[in-house]
Amino acid sequence: MAPAAALRFAGLLALVSNVRAVPVVSEPTTTIFSEPTDLPSPYAISHHNVTSHGPYNGLPATTTGALWTSVLGPSIPPAPPPPQIVEYPADGKLHGDQPMPFTPSGGIGTNGSVPIYKVASDFDYQSLALALYHEWIELDLFHWGLATFSDEEFDAYGIDAEDRFLLQHMADQEIGHASVIANMLGPNAPKQCTYNFPVSNVREYVDFNQKLTRWAEAGVYGFLPHLNSGPAASMLLQSITVEARQQMIFRQFGGQFPMPEWHTPGIPQSWAWTLLAPYIGSCPHNQTRMVWQNFPALYILNQPNPARINGADAWDETTGGYANTLSTKAIPPDELCVNATDKTLDCPAAIANNKSIPLSYPGRQVFLQWDGPGLLVGPNNSYVTTTNVAEPKFAAWLSQLNVTYTPLQDVSLDDNMKTAYTFQPNVSTWKGDPAVNGTMFIALTDVDLFVTPYNVSLINPHVAALAVYQAG
Ligand SMILES: *[C@@H]1O[C@H](CO)[C@@H](O)[C@H](O)[C@H]1NC(C)=O
Ligand SMILES: *[C@@H]1O[C@H](CO)[C@@H](O)[C@H](O)[C@H]1NC(C)=O
Ligand SMILES: *[C@@H]1O[C@H](CO)[C@@H](O)[C@H](O)[C@H]1NC(C)=O
Ligand SMILES: *[C@@H]1O[C@H](CO)[C@@H](O)[C@H](O)[C@H]1NC(C)=O
Ligand SMILES: *[C@@H]1O[C@H](CO)[C@@H](O)[C@H](O)[C@H]1NC(C)=O
Ligand SMILES: *[C@@H]1O[C@H](CO)[C@@H](O)[C@H](O)[C@H]1NC(C)=O
Ligand SMILES: *[C@@H]1O[C@H](CO)[C@@H](O)[C@H](O)[C@H]1NC(C)=O
Ligand SMILES: *[C@@H]1O[C@H](CO)[C@@H](O)[C@H](O)[C@H]1NC(C)=O
Ligand SMILES: *[C@@H]1O[C@H](CO)[C@@H](O)[C@H](O)[C@H]1NC(C)=O
Ligand SMILES: *[C@@H]1O[C@H](CO)[C@@H](O)[C@H](O)[C@H]1NC(C)=O
Repeated sequence: MAPAAALRFAGLLALVSNVRAVPVVSEPTTTIFSEPTDLPSPYAISHHNVTSHGPYNGLPATTTGALWTSVLGPSIPPAPPPPQIVEYPADGKLHGDQPMPFTPSGGIGTNGSVPIYKVASDFDYQSLALALYHEWIELDLFHWGLATFSDEEFDAYGIDAEDRFLLQHMADQEIGHASVIANMLGPNAPKQCTYNFPVSNVREYVDFNQKLTRWAEAGVYGFLPHLNSGPAASMLLQSITVEARQQMIFRQFGGQFPMPEWHTPGIPQSWAWTLLAPYIGSCPHNQTRMVWQNFPALYILNQPNPARINGADAWDETTGGYANTLSTKAIPPDELCVNATDKTLDCPAAIANNKSIPLSYPGRQVFLQWDGPGLLVGPNNSYVTTTNVAEPKFAAWLSQLNVTYTPLQDVSLDDNMKTAYTFQPNVSTWKGDPAVNGTMFIALTDVDLFVTPYNVSLINPHVAALAVYQAG
């Protein structure tokens, strides 16, 4: 928001606070008449309903690959932590003069400097542009489902008319999110594109939404604390918290437990872009380009299928690599959980469902197949998948606060068929909370590099392929 808009916003708040208390029990009547005001809310970004869907089949792109400039090295070497954090004595006492009453010293952007709600570096620009791509696809995806599937098809999964209004509302929320981010990016912000959704019925659609909003959410958590612009981070945060609620609601629509994990993971931007790009068909001719890497696709051959009563017992039941969204094609009706008669096995849309057969579990053998690099993906097929890794040796399980590595076994590097298997690790964040849970991520890597939530993107030079994994 521009400073002027922020001031108008403050004016609106002042107006609201003049409202006097009304009796506790009352019929809803209008007791206060506000004068017409010349303080309209800012215009939302111009947008349209995308009418074309499906894979890109236009002309080959004239520019391909990620945006780049001088590259200083293949990876970022480790350095000591900032002394300020190491030296601060966390003892509960005050260690500096207070800038004003009831205010401790310290903090970033707390010295009275006027916040400017715009990006402040290439890092900021590319990160917010990535987030905007996600808001745009969600705006279309949520509308598209409502327009594509009938009321009866939604009803069959327990998603009734009031739930469908929530879906419509979530689509509308994306207009606000896109507006906020586009304003902070300025006139060259990425525009709406066309999209290609890997789903053919309501259950697959809900699962794709649940997975896409998870990587969009996790993608923002990965970069948010690293942004140069604190003001931009603060605005984006106020959108991504809504995105997080959307993710949970789509899990509930799919009859899954709403939030099995205790912590939501953060992933590198290149992971979010890798997972998103395949679902973008084409973008307008002067769309700015992204700096992020597109990794090869990883296929989870026995990806757990939450539409099944026994979700762990699935083979080749996704609609493809990257998202590894569930497919219902091979599920006989009596193995669908939506209408199971046993309450511990069923999964209608609900606030919460106990599923007594876990989707995945420590020690589960997970079968993997992946693509080599060099494939065209993304808007106008104009990005190219790349990796530095010739032979992956580990599966990196990225969930909650942890990246945990398990060795790949039986690795086959055949040109047409790269395969291996591994076993789900038995690790916890805290006692009682299995680390591998919820909608999370698996990457194949060549080394078991130790990374933690704030430096997770240092893993990128070691990534061979990438997927969403459905653990719980
Ligand atoms: C897009 O379609 C929805 C109905 O699905 C409608 O409510 C909305 O106004 C349309 N938006 C635009 C910008 O045309
Ligand atoms: C406040 O901090 C910013 C950097 O965070 C600095 O650029 C600015 O000069 C400071 N302003 C004052 C009044 O100290
Ligand atoms: C579940 O049961 C309801 C009510 O009998 C039915 O209308 C619906 O089609 C069933 N859903 C599926 C996916 O079979
Ligand atoms: C992109 O193209 C559109 C339509 O041709 C034009 O209106 C717009 O100004 C262009 N944007 C930039 C940043 O060049
Ligand atoms: C995930 O967490 C839920 C809720 O705590 C638990 O019931 C389930 O068994 C966990 N799943 C796995 C794979 O550990
Ligand atoms: C991408 O394809 C669309 C549709 O064919 C076309 O209008 C657009 O100019 C293309 N964009 C680029 C950057 O080539
Ligand atoms: C739900 O699952 C939890 C954990 O497995 C169990 O303790 C609880 O009894 C179950 N509740 C119902 C109503 O099934
Ligand atoms: C996982 O580890 C816990 C102890 O840390 C142990 O009780 C449990 O049996 C292990 N599960 C598997 C499947 O190895
Ligand atoms: C997972 O993260 C928690 C919190 O940072 C840490 O205590 C725990 O040791 C980690 N577990 C593994 C297996 O890395
Ligand atoms: C990431 O941070 C952890 C500390 O949280 C550190 O031990 C590790 O070496 C770092 N990883 C890399 C690749 O620098």
